Parts: sequence; structure tokens; C-alpha cells
Amino acid sequence: MLINVIGLGYIGLPTALILAAYGNAVVGTDKKMDVIAKLNEGIVDFEEEGLQNLFDKAVNNRIKFTTEYQKADVYIVAVPTPYIKRDKKVDAAYVRNAVEDVLNVCGKGVIIVIESTISPGTIDKNIKPMIEERGFICGEDVHLVHAPERIIPGNMIKELENNNRTIGADDVEIGNKVRALYKTFCKGEIVVTDIKTAEMTKVVENTYRDINIAFANELAKICRTDNMNVYEIIRIANMHPRVNILTPHS
Ligand SMILES: NC(=O)c1ccc[n+]([C@@H]2O[C@H](COP(=O)([O-])OP(=O)(O)OC[C@H]3O[C@@H](n4cnc5c(N)ncnc54)[C@H](O)[C@@H]3O)[C@@H](O)[C@H]2O)c1
Repeated sequence: MLINVIGLGYIGLPTALILAAYGNAVVGTDKKMDVIAKLNEGIVDFEEEGLQNLFDKAVNNRIKFTTEYQKADVYIVAVPTPYIKRDKKVDAAYVRNAVEDVLNVCGKGVIIVIESTISPGTIDKNIKPMIEERGFICGEDVHLVHAPERIIPGNMIKELENNNRTIGADDVEIGNKVRALYKTFCKGEIVVTDIKTAEMTKVVENTYRDINIAFANELAKICRTDNMNVYEIIRIANMHPRVNILTPHS
């Protein structure tokens, strides 16, 4: 089974490397020639503990890097989904473009896994219609899966290996197939659910983090105005059995 990882940035590259390091056949594709040229010279652009080791193992296992999309069994799409401030919306254009390019090379029965962070409803309202306009039948010719990523820069490799994950697929058999693929490197629990639930869950997780980080930072600001020790206040407040405030930036 060949896996083509699309987009070799902070998420796609470690994902491609870990899949290859754990014995899967992987080709990594990125639109940017300089990204591919560097990878083919053995240069990884960002630092992460364990990344170089993973890179060496993946190269030993014959991972390839190219600007070309491959004919593969599974595509993992990890392209950017920037937030457009003006519209207060997530821009799915990169994901759409990547899926368009996959459709130009893939065969029937292919699985396309969207790892990029997308807003709830994107696959049903935005991606599926586009695929069907091209004459493919979703659920038969093309199987869509959403596998949102939770890793954080600075601890990526450990988190890739140990985090729990969500696989959103509307066909349980396909969901289990993708789960088995991620299980080749992931020791965490992998939940299989439907696409919409996976999309919404990712947004809920990010929102929860955002609110809690903002709360801690606002608290720090308030305490600073009247010379109160925010860390002592949080330490005491967190002794409450149902309070767990994060540590703000100093
Ligand atoms: N970075 C994080 O910490 C993090 C964590 C969780 C989720 N995510 C999500 O993962 C997704 C990817 O984020 P990232 O940080 O890896 O982005 P990134 O900008 O680091 O990398 C994206 C890569 O995709 C390539 N690309 C863009 N369009 C392409 C196309 N059509 N075909 C092939 N390659 C293409 C770019 O050249 C770039 O190298 C985003 O949706 C992001 O929200 C990121």
C-alpha cells in the first residue's frame, strides 16, 4: 500500500517520516521545489527532538520526496488552512487544490485523509461536491476521511507516537483501515467516528484551549494592575477540586 503525503510542513513532514520509519511505503509531495530540494539533500528545515533520527530511518526505508503527486492507495493531505480575519472563516482553498491534484492522478477506491484543520461541514459542503463535479462517486470511487492533528511544535515526535487520535469516516470499514495505518506508529487510543463529529471535535478542542489560555493571560493582566501574585492566586484556586487554571506567560 503506497501512501502519498501532500504538504511537507510542520505536520506533513513528521507524519510522512514516522509512517516510513515504521515500515510503510511513503512518498512525500510538496508544491515548493526548494522544500523538496532540501529534503533530497538531507536537510530538515526545522528542529524537533528526534526528527533527524526519524528522517534517517525514513530514508533507510526508502521514503521519496517529490513535487509530483503519485498514484497511491492513500493520500494524507496536510496543507495550510489559514484563518481569514476579514470573513472570520477558515480558508479551505489549499485543501481543495490538493484534492483537485489528487483526483488528477488517483485510481478508483482511493482513500483521501484530510489532516489539515478544517471547520465543521467543510468535507460535506466544500470537498464532496467538488469531487462529485469531477464525476467521482464519494464512498465508492473516493473515500474521504478526516484525521485532525493534535501535535504541538516542540514535542512533535513524542506526541505523534503517544497522543490519542480521532479518525472521522462515514464508512466504518474505511475508518478502521485508516486507524490500522495510524496504529503502525501510534501507541495512543484511536477513536473512529463520523466525519462531522471529527471536524467538530477538533474545533471544540482548539476552542477549549484558546479560552483557557486567554483566561489565564487575562487573569495575569488583572493581577499585574494591582500588584497581586497571579501564580500564588492560581496555585490556591487550583486547590479547589474542580478548578484547573493554566499557568500564564510571565
Ligand atoms: N503546525 C501545527 O502546530 C499544527 C498543529 C495541528 C494542526 N495543524 C494543521 O495542519 C495543517 C498544516 O499545517 P502546517 O503547520 O504543517 O503548515 P506548513 O505551512 O508548515 O506546511 C504546509 C506545506 O504544504 C505545502 N503545500 C501547500 N499547498 C500544497 C499543495 N496543493 N500541494 C502540495 N503541497 C502544498 C506548502 O508548500 C507547505 O510546505 C493546517 O491545517 C494546520 O492548521 C498544524
